[in-house]
Amino acid sequence: MAEVARRSLVVAIDGPAGAGKSTVSKRLTGALGYRLLDTGALYRCVALLAQRSSVEWTDEAALAKLAGSLKVNFRLEGEINRLEVSGEDLTDAIRKPDISTGASMVSSLPEVRQALLDLQRGLGAEGGVVVEGRDVGTVVFPNAEAKFYLTASDEVRAQRRYDELCANGETVDFESTLREMQERDERDSSRAVAPLTQADDAVLVDSSERSLDEVVQEMLDVVRDRESRPAS
Ligand code: DC
Repeated sequence: MAEVARRSLVVAIDGPAGAGKSTVSKRLTGALGYRLLDTGALYRCVALLAQRSSVEWTDEAALAKLAGSLKVNFRLEGEINRLEVSGEDLTDAIRKPDISTGASMVSSLPEVRQALLDLQRGLGAEGGVVVEGRDVGTVVFPNAEAKFYLTASDEVRAQRRYDELCANGETVDFESTLREMQERDERDSSRAVAPLTQADDAVLVDSSERSLDEVVQEMLDVVRDRESRPAS
């Protein structure tokens, strides 16, 4: 039988914290042989670099300048999406809880979002990329040919985040993990610019009651189907 010619797409995955986006994105990226662009990591970088140079997480002009000068490189190594910024590996440093709060704060600033918009579009321009974030299907790549909105219940999401932080050796309690996550969701969903929301043409995937394998398989089936369709 003749091979079906497949195209390399932009796959957009949006959803709230703890829905399983990052794990699912890595698996899907590996299965597709694509690159992975973690847009949340870019906001985290801005927050971290600002903290290092004593720039406040509310100083929009200084943060936008910083965002506009980022030189980033992602490299997927198995389950780890390594991030290098100007040659320095920041993979672990950007995952600390205070940087999560900083990333959420800097991401509410329009000038920061604008600076990172150009960077994200440049990084995804050639296709063959899975892009995960909050506004990927709605704002960054509105013409992406496969879009997903991945979610799960608050309790399930907080438990996953709690387990992840414990595994990383952080000292946290479940209640404050749940509360911080809900505050972050509220900020991400209610901000004026590019709030977290499901694109009209995104496939809704609820991972609360389903295994990782099931979720990845469902998404893989959708992407494979679209890869083999002619360009629209
Ligand atoms: O997915 P994450 O937890 O690494 O994201 C960090 C923060 O960045 C989060 O508070 C939401 C924000 N973010 C955003 O506003 N837009 C994106 N495309 C990705 C992340």
